[in-house]
Amino acid sequence: MERTFCMIKPDGVRRRLIGDIIARFERKGLTVVALDFCTLTQDQAERHYAEHKDKPFFAELVAFITSGPVVPMVLEGPDAVAAARALIGATDPLKAAAGTIRGDYGLRLSENVIHGADSPASAKRETANILPDCNI
Ligand code: PPS
Repeated sequence: MERTFCMIKPDGVRRRLIGDIIARFERKGLTVVALDFCTLTQDQAERHYAEHKDKPFFAELVAFITSGPVVPMVLEGPDAVAAARALIGATDPLKAAAGTIRGDYGLRLSENVIHGADSPASAKRETANILPDCNI
């Protein structure tokens, strides 16, 4: 069993996609083991995206992720990191395959509905930052 960290972004919450997205993870066989509804602080957002701090879109990324409530969660299952990322689809919604969350719901790179950790180590670090009461 593996655990991963995912987070429905402010556009996903604003568009009332929370239930649909969680249902997709659950139907795949992943189990939600922690969940919150919160607005990230500036510090949490900057830590979350620290590896992108030198990218030209860093400020936009932080402004967007703090623009409204998000739904961070920890999912558990076999190969949970890869399974969740396969369901989420490619970063750019226009390139994401139909049937994936971003492929079905996204149109813009800057508003791509959901984040998924890219490794078990990232999942641990991101969970500690955003769901500090959850030890994965
Ligand atoms: S990169 O450039 O390969 O490191 O980018 P990537 O790892 O695919 O994406 C990192 C996060 O940045 C978001 N992103 C962008 N936001 C705004 N504008 C542009 N041009 C852009 N490019 C990438 C992307 O959605 C990733 O966010 P998360 O939350 O990790 O999905």
